[in-house]
Amino acid sequence: MSVTGVVNWGVVIMGWIAGIVMLALFVMFIQDIFQKEHAVRRNFPVVGRLRYFLERQGDYFRQYFFANDRQEMPFNRAARSWVYRTSKNLGGIIGFGSTNDLREPGSLIFVNAPYAVLEDERKTAPPLVIGPHCERPFVASKIVNISGMSFGAVSAPAVRALARGAAEAGIWMNTGEGGLSPHHLEGGGDLIFQIGTAKYGVRDPEGRLSDARLREVAQHIRAFEIKLAQGAKPGRGGVLPAIKVTEEIAQIRGIPMGQPSDSPNRHPDIKNDDDLLDMIVRIRTVTGLPVGIKTVLGSDAAIRSLCEAIARRGMESAPDFITLDGGDGGSGAAPQVLADHVGLPLNEALPMLVDTLIESGLRERVRVIASGKLVTSAKVAWALCMGADFTVTARGFMFALGCIQSLQCHQNTCPTGITTPPRKINGHPQIMLRLYPTPFCATTFPTSLLWDTWHAMMGYLPQNLFCSAM
Ligand SMILES: Cc1cc2nc3c(=O)[nH]c(=O)nc-3n(C[C@H](O)[C@H](O)[C@H](O)COP(=O)(O)O)c2cc1C
Repeated sequence: MSVTGVVNWGVVIMGWIAGIVMLALFVMFIQDIFQKEHAVRRNFPVVGRLRYFLERQGDYFRQYFFANDRQEMPFNRAARSWVYRTSKNLGGIIGFGSTNDLREPGSLIFVNAPYAVLEDERKTAPPLVIGPHCERPFVASKIVNISGMSFGAVSAPAVRALARGAAEAGIWMNTGEGGLSPHHLEGGGDLIFQIGTAKYGVRDPEGRLSDARLREVAQHIRAFEIKLAQGAKPGRGGVLPAIKVTEEIAQIRGIPMGQPSDSPNRHPDIKNDDDLLDMIVRIRTVTGLPVGIKTVLGSDAAIRSLCEAIARRGMESAPDFITLDGGDGGSGAAPQVLADHVGLPLNEALPMLVDTLIESGLRERVRVIASGKLVTSAKVAWALCMGADFTVTARGFMFALGCIQSLQCHQNTCPTGITTPPRKINGHPQIMLRLYPTPFCATTFPTSLLWDTWHAMMGYLPQNLFCSAM
């Protein structure tokens, strides 16, 4: 074909493209001036759409270009980068100086000792027993563990990576309220099974707690945790949007596929302290395993009332552990009003819980597990100083897997695949979390974090008191 022919074809194609673009803009224009949902689009047809597009892009790009190191919520860049580095074993060393303003009210400052403990004088923490009077007590050896994230809220590759990483690091993994999946079992490590208000995985066909299912599940796990509330949504049960309820998830939870998985906002069979203690004793008797509870506190009234009920009924009725979640905890999906405004943050609630247990003479009987933004060594060290026996983190391990905090866990659009099940289009995986290096990171993160925690505390506690759990 001659040059003129090529040019003519080019002009024709460009004309078609321009025509199609004009037509599309015209259709958008008509749509915008007649729609009644968005004032901006009605007043500024077509151009107004840019607002929504740019707002969406802000979620992704704000963290790179506009927010400073200590500004973002829920986790600022300094904390996230710290976890990324820690989980890749790149160390926690920074240059020039800290961007943390120590003069800010509430800033966390450890008192340094004039003569710190030498690194080679470090002692190994003895493992702690949870539920020593149970038929099968749980001996837990590490301070940092994986908090509950249900299969469904996080994807199968993520659960597998965490399960394998946890087993390798010798830490426990909490299943979250979505039941026990084969992916949890793949690692072969210690599991705590969480019983949510819908009792997924341990319910009978009518949705009631089933002793037979409890016994079956008990063969694979180390302890049960009854979830009363999690920090992000006290007074609201687990929520899994319909789009995330795949065939596998539906089967594991015992619910219909493709319909929202909405749990009751309270255990229907636990309406007071006595019901709760009855349930704890029942599960412990049926399974022989330690049984604890997970909650968030609003004041010390609830925990005082529970301690009084235990005193009345006898120590043996007490939960073997209490997992205390901060009101600013994370969630796969939660109503904003609850996430923003209900429940005390951990820095207020943890001393409240520990003090109440001490006053009630229950501190030795009930292990305290703290959670809520404990993703850096300083925060873990703080929780131990406040009286926690163990810490757990959910989002810390999500960061270790590569989470970029795009705040989309409740949708099916997680850019890293951690909260989005892998999909296949024409047989090809579209969003797939690669299994390497994630189990490595899930292993390295808690190990390096503990090492760093020791650094935070070695100048603070008397030499023979502090033990690292490396
Ligand atoms: C994706 C996701 C799923 C979660 N699923 C559960 C769950 O099933 N049960 C539960 O008790 N907590 C759940 N949580 C809350 C965490 O276990 C934890 O209590 C909370 O995020 C605070 O810890 P963090 O600040 O270390 O993330 C979930 C959190 C996230 C981010």
